[in-house]
Formats: sequence, C-alpha cells, structure tokens
Amino acid sequence: MRTFPAIGGMRTVGDFKSHLALLQLSIPCDEELQTGPTSTLAQPLEFNGKKIGNRFCIHPMEGWDGTTDGKPSDATIRRWRNFGLSGAKLIWGGEAVAVRHDARANPNQLLMSEKNKKGLAELRDTVLEAHSEILDTTDDLIIGLQLTHSGRFSRPNIKSKPEPRILYHHPTLDARVGIDKDYPVLSDGEIRQIIDDFLFAVRVAAELGYDFVDIKHCHGYLGHEFLSAHTREGDYGGSFENRTRFLREITAGIRSLAPKMEIGVRVSGFDLVSFRPDPETTTGKQMGSGIPDRYESFLPYKFGFGVNADAPEAYDLNEPRRFLTLLRDLDIKLVNITAGSPYYNPHIQRPALYPPSDGYQPPEDPLIGVARQMEATRILKSEFPDLILVGTAYTYLQEFLPFVAQAAIRQGWVDSVGLGRMVLSYPELPLDIISGKVLAHKKICRTFSDCTTAPRNGLPSGCYPLDLYYKKSEDGVTLKQLKAARRAT
Ligand SMILES: Cc1cc2nc3c(=O)[nH]c(=O)nc-3n(C[C@H](O)[C@H](O)[C@H](O)COP(=O)(O)O)c2cc1C
Ligand code: SF4
Repeated sequence: MRTFPAIGGMRTVGDFKSHLALLQLSIPCDEELQTGPTSTLAQPLEFNGKKIGNRFCIHPMEGWDGTTDGKPSDATIRRWRNFGLSGAKLIWGGEAVAVRHDARANPNQLLMSEKNKKGLAELRDTVLEAHSEILDTTDDLIIGLQLTHSGRFSRPNIKSKPEPRILYHHPTLDARVGIDKDYPVLSDGEIRQIIDDFLFAVRVAAELGYDFVDIKHCHGYLGHEFLSAHTREGDYGGSFENRTRFLREITAGIRSLAPKMEIGVRVSGFDLVSFRPDPETTTGKQMGSGIPDRYESFLPYKFGFGVNADAPEAYDLNEPRRFLTLLRDLDIKLVNITAGSPYYNPHIQRPALYPPSDGYQPPEDPLIGVARQMEATRILKSEFPDLILVGTAYTYLQEFLPFVAQAAIRQGWVDSVGLGRMVLSYPELPLDIISGKVLAHKKICRTFSDCTTAPRNGLPSGCYPLDLYYKKSEDGVTLKQLKAARRAT
C-alpha cells in the first residue's frame, strides 16, 4: 500500500514548497501572510450591486441530522451558527436542501415544504445573528440556499435503501445503487414536475430572504447527471442544448416568478470515471488503493461531464467552458467549481489522507487532487474573468491553507476560497487568518473522513475526532459504531 507524507508533519512553508516541487505541482503559495483589513483575503468582491465582504466562502455541507420530516435539528442549527461565526462573507447554501421528499439523499436531509419554512428561516437568522456577534456588519454577508434533487443517490426513506431516480443507465454506477437495465428512467413529464418543485423552493427561499439559490449541478446528483445524459432520448438528453434544458427552464422560471432572486450554480467542473478499491491490495483488515472501474469496452466514454471521452481518467474542459458560457448568457455570475463525486471518485472530490468507509486508500498524494481542482478553476477563471468563481478542495492544505489561499487570490486563480471540512473542525479559521491570530493547530482538519464515514453508516455527520460537541453529546453507542466502521477501513 502506498503511503504519502502527512502535511501535519511539514514544519515550514519551505518544507511544503519542497514537497510540491518533488511532486511537480504548481500550487501557488505565498511565504508571508498579510493580515487586517488591507490584506488580500479581506478584500471585498462586487456582486450585482452587492458587496461580498471578503474572499472566504463556506461550502454547503449537510449533516444528515434534520428531522425525518426535513426540519433542522439543534445540531443543524449549531452547524449554521458556526458558519456565521466563521467570518466568511459568502455562505454558499449552508447545505443541500431537497426540493421534494423522494429527492432526499437520506431520511434526515432538510426538505423544502410549506411546513418547513420556519426552520429554514431560522437557519438564515442564525447565521446573521452569529455573524453580527463577531463582526460589525452583516450588510456584506451573502447567504444562499442550495437546492437539490439527489437523483441516482436518493435514499429518502431508509438509510440503507437506495431509491434512485435516474436519467439514463450508467455502465458502472447502476450496479452500485442496485439497479438493472430494466429500471425506469425519469420521464420528461416527471422532469417538468421536478422543475416546478425547484421553482416552488426558489419562491420560498425568496420569501425567507435568502440572497441567492444554488441550482446544484455537482457530485453525481440529478442536476449533474443531466450534464452527462448523452445517451438519453427526448427533450433532456443528447445535445448540449438538451442536457442544459433543466437549468435553462429553472432559470427562466426564476426570472419570471422571483425576478429579484439571485442565482448561483455549484458545478462539478470536471469528472473522471468511477473508482473502487483494488482487490489485489485489499486485505481482510484494510481496503485497497483506488483503481478505476473498467471502461475500455465502452469508449468513447459518454457517461460523464468534463471527462476526456477517449481517455476518461483525465478531464476535458471543453464542455465545462460551454457551460460557463451558458451561465454568462443566462446572467448567472456566481459559480462554485467542484469536481467528481463523493460516491464514486471521492479522492477527486475531497482529497484526503484517510478514506471514508465506503471509499478506498488514496491512489495518489492528495495534494495532486488539490492541484487538479485548483488548476481547472484557474483555467476557467482566466477565460471567464467576469464570473465570480469559488474554488474547492483547500482543506487538505491544512497549515498551508492560508498561504495558498492568499497566493491564489492574489494571482487571480479564483475569486473566493471555499472551505468545506475545515469549518467543521475549525469554524473560526477565516476570522483567525484575517485577524492574524496564530492558528489553533489542534483544530485543523486532518482529513480523517469521519464526517463522511458517519453518514455512510447511518450516523449524523460531524467532526467526531476534533469537535467536542460530538465527543460530549454522543451517548457512546454511536461513537462505538463509528469506531467499528473506521476500523473496517
Ligand atoms: C460532511 C460533508 C457534507 C457535504 N455536503 C455537501 C452538500 O450538501 N452540498 C455540496 O455541494 N457539497 C457537500 N459537501 C462537499 C463540500 O462542500 C466540499 O466540496 C468538499 O468537502 C471539498 O472541500 P474541502 O476540501 O474544503 O473539504 C460535503 C462534504 C462533507 C465533508
Ligand atoms: S471528521 Fe473532522 S478531521 Fe475528519 S475530515 Fe471531517 S472535518 Fe476533517
């Protein structure tokens, strides 16, 4: 099994840069950090006449901890409070909120409905309240709501039971969600109904005062699956025009029904084939390194978006470029670039030293995964300077995150640095960086992946190793279960 040097063991920026050089990675990294209101990371961004007060964004992250009818629980509210306390001025959706019951990725996902309005309003209020406790103003704080349909990865009723809603049959992913070639695909009529559900959700988000909605197009969920529906027939598959009809129809609906609502799109800007643990290196105790599923018999590869069709272990940005051009034409300026999927290629989506329980050992130094996402975003940013691009996959940088974030913003690789796992373990990191505090090393996410392993095993997500809330509030039974799941990796 290959092992990779842990970032936590690198003492200085020089050590980190030497490691980057060894890997021949061109991740930008400053030597000195600026602090205070004039620092690079504290500079505001202009967004359609509003101000986004600094260059940190909190990525959406669900906790699998809503009530079964889709309302936030105390744990959900606490997480959103932490988002507000982070000091980041762009809150990208908080977490994925399903637009209808059968679209939920788990039975505890938040659900948009008339009777859940109060809870969804409370989440926004909580962010605003927390933010105003630590900073002078919330006028430059932009809060969105991420709207989703989980599509192929829907599990609305029982945690262990997939109830996929698919757009086309996929040669490697169908088996993973337990379906065969006769399983029905969503009809065009059902898709139109889902579009109406999105529009209902947008109207509620507007009523509750959210600044924007994210029409989620990433991570293998329904919006993302549209973009790769090359083999689907009818109005929503085949040509690029058809594969983006879902987004265009939702956008047209928003412009007419809630014209003041801003729109963002989180998109997997590229993808690769699905991966699995190598049986050759899997032992009774440990899963093997990630290897790609066999794809040779179905080349050119028609089952991904932003994938090189002839060599699908590499990305191809041609269609993502067309997609960003479309966003520009639709006057959608706020774009969050992510990659891949946590279900079938997690090392692409969230680079980590330790895999989640349904993953595989990292097949590459996770820094390569960070560099891959940063580079794709850099290329897109250079071609779409008028869009606001948020970047992803910075958490693995750990102690060196501030140095890389500052360099990436300074050199125009990206407009806003998105933080995912890091804010689960260390919510106030953005504030600490901007105010020049010494970082709290004990809170830095070491990518143990327990926040992914927990939900894969039917538990709420959270930073079990580093967040005292989970250590203290668990009754011991769940922690025991988590440890058992972790041991299996
Ligand atoms: C526990 C957990 C829940 C997540 N939930 C969502 C989600 O609801 N919507 C989404 O777009 N991404 C979700 N993500 C992905 C993150 O937003 C982010 O893209 C990913 O963690 C990589 O960023 P990082 O390296 O800063 O962690 C989730 C990630 C984690 C770890
Ligand atoms: S469980 Fe905590 S330390 Fe582990 S990846 Fe998630 S946030 Fe990071």
